[in-house]
Amino acid sequence: MNTLFLPADAPNTVTVAAEIIRSGGLVAIPTETVYGLGANGLNEDAVRRIFEAKGRPQDNPLILHIAKAEQMEDFCEDVPRVAYDLADAFWPGPLTLVLKCKPIVPKRTTAGLDTVAIRCPDHDVTRAIIAASGVPVAAPSGNTSGRPSPTKASHMVEDMNGKIEAIVDGGSCGIGVESTILDLTVTPPRLLRPGGMPVEKLAQIVGEIAVDDAVIRPMKEGEKPRAPGMKYRHYAPKAPVTVLTGTGADTAAYIAEQVQPGDGVICFQEYAPMFPDCVVQPIGEEVDDLAHAQRVFDALRAFDGTDVPRIFAQCPPEQGLGLAVANRLKKAAGFHVIAL
Ligand code: TXA
Ligand code: MG
Repeated sequence: MNTLFLPADAPNTVTVAAEIIRSGGLVAIPTETVYGLGANGLNEDAVRRIFEAKGRPQDNPLILHIAKAEQMEDFCEDVPRVAYDLADAFWPGPLTLVLKCKPIVPKRTTAGLDTVAIRCPDHDVTRAIIAASGVPVAAPSGNTSGRPSPTKASHMVEDMNGKIEAIVDGGSCGIGVESTILDLTVTPPRLLRPGGMPVEKLAQIVGEIAVDDAVIRPMKEGEKPRAPGMKYRHYAPKAPVTVLTGTGADTAAYIAEQVQPGDGVICFQEYAPMFPDCVVQPIGEEVDDLAHAQRVFDALRAFDGTDVPRIFAQCPPEQGLGLAVANRLKKAAGFHVIAL
């Protein structure tokens, strides 16, 4: 298949992308978090093609993307007051809500669950595409299953060129880690995945939030997390990753002691000169948590173009966006973490 390349700011991009979606095709769409692989979320065949293109397990449900918060009611049942409050405060934005699902949403989209994940992304062109398509757009992250999520159009080309109808190029994603997922069908609401919306901000509106086990530890054989996707090996580069937690100075000193020439290192910018013989992917200054989020997937992905035998990563503190970045690094490492 010849994949069309559509610059986000080209005059006919919205019309062309919306028409492809309406007619059952697949389009890579930029969002503020990561690129998504979008299709008509109400069309079973289109949704089946998303799973095929990604090599995604069938039991892993998709997020429905809507252009306006009001569309929540078209697809969700018994929407609680707090969902409206969160939508008012944070949509469009990097927050996904899990709510009871209406029968109009196909089982293939929700992987047979009676809930649906829904979000309104903070990207003007993508919202315009969704609105013009006239349907909710089911979109997982656009990576091949298991690979780091795409944060640039070039990542989408790497994983999906020739497999989908079009890629909309919106440049680099502003946040760089996926949305925060909050399950509102349980009491208290439960954090299923930390992401671009800091949980501290959600707590100001929601009050108490429970944290799902899958966020903090690897799932055991047969264990079923509430977000099915959290049980899969994820974000992993080909080389094994070791994550170091502790102060930047301590973790940098530890890595400098351990590394062999040719190893890979993910580090805060100011420590990069400590690893002269390594393949270094800096993720911004230690204090710059937005840079860490923007850079983490690109850094993990970049090692696949090298032959580093192993990778060491400095981990930011688990506050604000740091909780999501630390979670992605730990998952990439299969939770191989050394705490200093
Ligand atoms: O930022 C994002 O959320 C990106 C962009 C494209 O919007 N999308 C994204 O989708 O990260 P994906 O499919 O890579 O991750 C969605 C996660 C999976 O872990 C899935 O299991 C979970 O959401 N999920 C989807 N529907 C769910 C539901 N009804 N209940 C619980 N978890 C659900
Ligand atoms: Mg994903």
